[in-house]
Amino acid sequence: MADNGKQVTWGGRFKDGPDGLMLAFGESVSFDQRLAPYDLQGSLGHASMLLAVGILNQEEFNQIEKGLKELADEVKSGTFEWDIELEDVHMNLEQALRIKTEAADKLHTGRSRNDQVATDVRLFFKDACSQLREGIEQAMSALLALAKKHAATPIPGYTHLQRAQPVTVGHHLLAYVEMLGRDHERFSSVANHANVCPLGSGAIAGSTLPLDRSLVAKALGFVDECGEPRLTPNGMDAVADRDLFVEFASACSLCSIHLSRLAEDLILWNSSEFDYLRLPDAFTTGSSLMPQKKNPDCFELIRGKTGRVIGNLTNLLVTIKGLPLTYNRDLQEDKPPVFDSFEQLGICLAVTAGALDGAEIREENCSSAASDPLLLATDLADYLVEQGVPFRQAHHVVGSLVARSEELEIPLPQLSDEDAQSICPQISNNWRDVFDLSRAFSKREKPGMPGPQQVQGRITFWEGILNS
Ligand code: ARG
Repeated sequence: MADNGKQVTWGGRFKDGPDGLMLAFGESVSFDQRLAPYDLQGSLGHASMLLAVGILNQEEFNQIEKGLKELADEVKSGTFEWDIELEDVHMNLEQALRIKTEAADKLHTGRSRNDQVATDVRLFFKDACSQLREGIEQAMSALLALAKKHAATPIPGYTHLQRAQPVTVGHHLLAYVEMLGRDHERFSSVANHANVCPLGSGAIAGSTLPLDRSLVAKALGFVDECGEPRLTPNGMDAVADRDLFVEFASACSLCSIHLSRLAEDLILWNSSEFDYLRLPDAFTTGSSLMPQKKNPDCFELIRGKTGRVIGNLTNLLVTIKGLPLTYNRDLQEDKPPVFDSFEQLGICLAVTAGALDGAEIREENCSSAASDPLLLATDLADYLVEQGVPFRQAHHVVGSLVARSEELEIPLPQLSDEDAQSICPQISNNWRDVFDLSRAFSKREKPGMPGPQQVQGRITFWEGILNS
């Protein structure tokens, strides 16, 4: 065998080994070593299939199985020595297995690194989606606990960052629970798309050997709900396809965007100007100069990291867009962005849960801001509609009443009946009942509205899901 360095996997046709610069440039083991557990799992599945079809004998399989288990322990305990001269996680592990057993030379039968890496990442995505779903559940539980505690605390709802209509803290926070609920579902669907086995695709065109694709798919858990194997239907697609990377990075981006919008709301609420919320010391920081400062860094960082997570998605889209079929080495660059999005989103979810657990709603300030009668101007227009005034006219009338109260520099409900009736004769003497917040909420008991029973209904619904 020609000696051109350590590269025994593909070194046969080469006289010289790679330049040191090329080694450093081309290696991926510094980041793809995190695929090691999935690579070892994939190899074991492949080996069990090779045994079943008679390419490995029982003794060879046993040696390989034992070697793979030892490697798994070494990787787990951190004693495995990664070598950039061996390029990537796949060749590092294969070479390490060769040292343990000669049977390792047969392991790569009917397999290419192309279908191998495609398999590894599918196993990774299934795992990553399930971990992120747990993180989402934690953030949802923290939101839900605060929503429950303040289900009935009134607070202004905003449009254009202007006070719009009264809602409750519960209703506002539940909006984010709904968003995270959709993220949870999205990660299930990404995991479901990942649940298809590419092994057997080889480099692009499969193999002439009697491989049993169904057997290996079953061994690795790529099965449907009836236990039937799920196989990629086109080998070229299977090794070139990076849809899952984009789907995963996109689900991470959307979830991060939800956290970022929540962060922005909470930063505003935490400001002296709003003063609706007090954040725990444990998730805030001080200023090196201004002794009074307590900054909401946890939420600012979530907002900032969201830019990074969205960047990862863009990175992938641009990397993939011009590639001819099938595998091109550009695709090695697909891993850092997804690993980064996975990690960043995971920590953002944990920090959201942690900061919310210690957050305190300043009930009095919320209620007093929500008692602004102008928040119920729309309710007054609805009241006029019930008196038979067409809505467009009612809207105009209330606009004139608001203008009149501004002119007289008095709150809207303090306008006299005469003043009000001079603008609109249909106004009866009970028009000020509209300015009662509990009336406003109790009249909003249709699905999706902030009525107390509606809010309670969603709390019960989500508690049921999260506790199941
Ligand atoms: N390290 C490579 C990657 O992540 C593995 C696949 C290599 N395949 C190849 N044909 N060179 O993309």
